[in-house]
Amino acid sequence: MTPKQQNDLAHRLRAETPSERWSHAPQSMRNSASAYVDPGRYDDEMAALFLDGPVFVCLSSECALPGAYVTRDIAGVPIVVVRQKDGALRAFLNICRHRAAPLLSGDGKKGRLIVCPYHAWGYDLSGRLVSRPESEGGFDDVTGDCNLINRAVQELHGLIFVRASSDEPFDIDEKLAGMESEFSGYGLETAHPIETRTMTWDMNWKLVIDTFIEAYHVRYLHQETIDPVFLSHQLYDDFGGAPRVIGLRKSILNQFETEPAADWRLFPHAAALYTLMPNAFLVYQGDHVETWRVEPISVDKCRVFVTLFSPSPPADDKSLAYWIKNLEVACRVTFTEDFPMQTRIHANMKTGAIDEVLYGKNEPGLVQFHSTVNETVDRHKALNRSGKIVAAQA
Ligand code: FES
Ligand SMILES: [Fe+2]
Repeated sequence: MTPKQQNDLAHRLRAETPSERWSHAPQSMRNSASAYVDPGRYDDEMAALFLDGPVFVCLSSECALPGAYVTRDIAGVPIVVVRQKDGALRAFLNICRHRAAPLLSGDGKKGRLIVCPYHAWGYDLSGRLVSRPESEGGFDDVTGDCNLINRAVQELHGLIFVRASSDEPFDIDEKLAGMESEFSGYGLETAHPIETRTMTWDMNWKLVIDTFIEAYHVRYLHQETIDPVFLSHQLYDDFGGAPRVIGLRKSILNQFETEPAADWRLFPHAAALYTLMPNAFLVYQGDHVETWRVEPISVDKCRVFVTLFSPSPPADDKSLAYWIKNLEVACRVTFTEDFPMQTRIHANMKTGAIDEVLYGKNEPGLVQFHSTVNETVDRHKALNRSGKIVAAQA
């Protein structure tokens, strides 16, 4: 984010502070509890939001060298993204063309070949089948190619996205809707991955998103932990239906008293969190970047991944320990206070005892996110009924 962008937002923050009416939504919103617990609704979300996507996969630096690959589960569809020798990216179904065995797992790096662990069919990095044991006599009557099945992948601004349902191209700038104008200075292209932590939770995937895009709860749920440091307010803006929220340390208020107005900045007093719809966040913490991703497993279960990136590779063990401590801080409150609360919320909604939840005007990120989700699901269902989406996915 440029100094000018930071200064403008700091001035907005200063103007909103006395009224405490920070970045409010025009109106509150009721959302059906079934949006979190109904299996049919979950299937609709997977089709509308995840399979058609595009979905954030990773930062470019996590798949940087020729042969580097990352695997992802996108609404149950196994995807692998592979860096080519010429620096381009390709994405495939992570499924062997022989008898559908999974080819790769986790993240890693291959030399020239991707070899299936079941019967050793070999594919080059571009997905072309190049070796097949006992091919002569076994498969010499097979017609058509047996190359890996392509999926659309795009890389821009240091971010990689995939469309899991097809190889139909998409436009990242259209998806980001201008938020990328704030990425300068974040060093996304060169950010160095330090470590990823992951944990499975008994809750709907959207409750992970709900955790981050309102700060109303900070002074209550986090009374004993982060409330002394953070404000219970966020600066909120809408980027094409995706909330960008800026969490604020209380130290930023001192700046208004001690620094000239022209010098006001957000960082290091803030964390800027960008929603990469539907299921990920890019977070700039002032001196480093984090990504948070949630992979839905079922309507009642999801897996969360958080990765911390340092601006450059740590020079020594002390530096590495510093970044790992940062990651632990990021996880601690979320994993011990936020997500346990969300699992209890999910359990309550699952009983069917309540029909709906409320998002206040003071929770504009929630209003925006769930409006976008609901509209996308409704639009997809309408198109599906007309047959257009079914045709696009075929
Ligand atoms: S399933 Fe991959 S080689 Fe047989
Ligand atoms: Fe929280």
